[in-house]
Amino acid sequence: MNDLPDDLLTPEAVADPDGAAAVLRAHDPVHWSPTHRAWLLTRFDDVVAAFKNPALSSDRVRPLMSARDEPSGDASQKMLGLISEWMVVTDPPAHTRLRRLAGAAFKQQQIAAMEERIQTLVDDLLDAFLAEGGTDLVAGVAYPLPAIVIAEMLGAPPEDRDRFRSWSDELALVAFGAGGDARPDRHERALRGLEEMAEYFRALVAHRRREPSGDMLSAMITGDDRSDGSGLSDDELVGMCALLLFAGHETTTNAIANAVRLLTADTELRDRVRDDPALVAPAVEEALRLVGPIKVLVRWVIEDHELRGRTIRAGERVYLVLCGANRDPERFADPDTVDLARSRATHIAFGRGVHACIGAQLARIETRIAVGTLLRRLPGLRVEGEPEYLPTIASRAQTSLPVVHDGSATVETASRP
Ligand code: HEM
Repeated sequence: MNDLPDDLLTPEAVADPDGAAAVLRAHDPVHWSPTHRAWLLTRFDDVVAAFKNPALSSDRVRPLMSARDEPSGDASQKMLGLISEWMVVTDPPAHTRLRRLAGAAFKQQQIAAMEERIQTLVDDLLDAFLAEGGTDLVAGVAYPLPAIVIAEMLGAPPEDRDRFRSWSDELALVAFGAGGDARPDRHERALRGLEEMAEYFRALVAHRRREPSGDMLSAMITGDDRSDGSGLSDDELVGMCALLLFAGHETTTNAIANAVRLLTADTELRDRVRDDPALVAPAVEEALRLVGPIKVLVRWVIEDHELRGRTIRAGERVYLVLCGANRDPERFADPDTVDLARSRATHIAFGRGVHACIGAQLARIETRIAVGTLLRRLPGLRVEGEPEYLPTIASRAQTSLPVVHDGSATVETASRP
């Protein structure tokens, strides 16, 4: 078929990525898209197999650097050079070592111990939102929460929180070919943000090397401090901090916003989840499956191989279309429906294989607490209007979440002089 919706950046595909993915999955699940110059994989089994296929590399930054014409001193090349060292774009064995060392910062008990603090942060943000008569839950809660959490977990002082947010924003302008922003200076801005952030983290690393504390950065410094020198270098620690800030921010913001829209669209479902705290976790899992923050992940082909009769050649790109896989009817019965009794471990919103999200536990805690608290404290919560998404291939990112709730009128009245 020639008329398949294989341009994921058309307004229709941005508004309804799941619809586009469903057509591809049904008619050509291993589809070559001339627009993206990439293979689009939309079946659950194919995507899961791709996560484990050594013919596919996660190093999608270096090929991009060599494909570009700019000289090496150019802002975009310098910026890509910094990102190319991040764990998420490396392959084993380099990845195996980085992942083992980063694991020290993600001990289950430590993450679980954050629950109380995250609850306080959500309540404080919501108090401020209500006091200001706010209407956009992205700006008020979903956006600031993950940046504050990761800044605190890394051990940065509270007064530096806003800087974390702006660095993360600048990076999002260019990250992984998101393509959401066409401003000509976006590479310069992202590079400036990255350099400033690197300088900041370098000082924090030096401080924590001298005075370790109970934070994530100290855990990464001391967690695997082997005498053979295999611990993380200062540059690697700086890169890891930048990656954690970036990987954990926008994704969690979108997880919260997407879940709120999905779960409040059906008032009966909303009230069921609000009235039974045990249903918040399965509801969040269904939201991650149905409206997950990451629509597509990119891999680079390093070895020719066959898939469903197609020859996939070295040098080509493969898009793992998570939003297609997570609604595959071969895998999920009644795939487009929220089913709170569905088994939780099956969706792949957090990826699979060696790169599976290292922050999944933290992300789940943040999203559950935020969603549960919003439903509980804002009775009658509903989102107004149709969603507006950033035009990117990779993320499902609502630009805002305008809400009303049964207390809206009270808040407006109270704020009037
Ligand atoms: C709901 C929110 C989140 C979603 C949907 C998400 C999703 C993902 C996915 C799909 C991957 C795999 C990438 C790949 O295979 O190329 C990944 C990796 C990663 N995530 Fe998350 N993530 C979320 C939150 C977080 C948080 C809160 C953190 C940390 C604070 C984090 C840190 C990372 C890191 C460091 C990696 C790279 C792991 C590696 O390369 O071994 N993520 N995430």
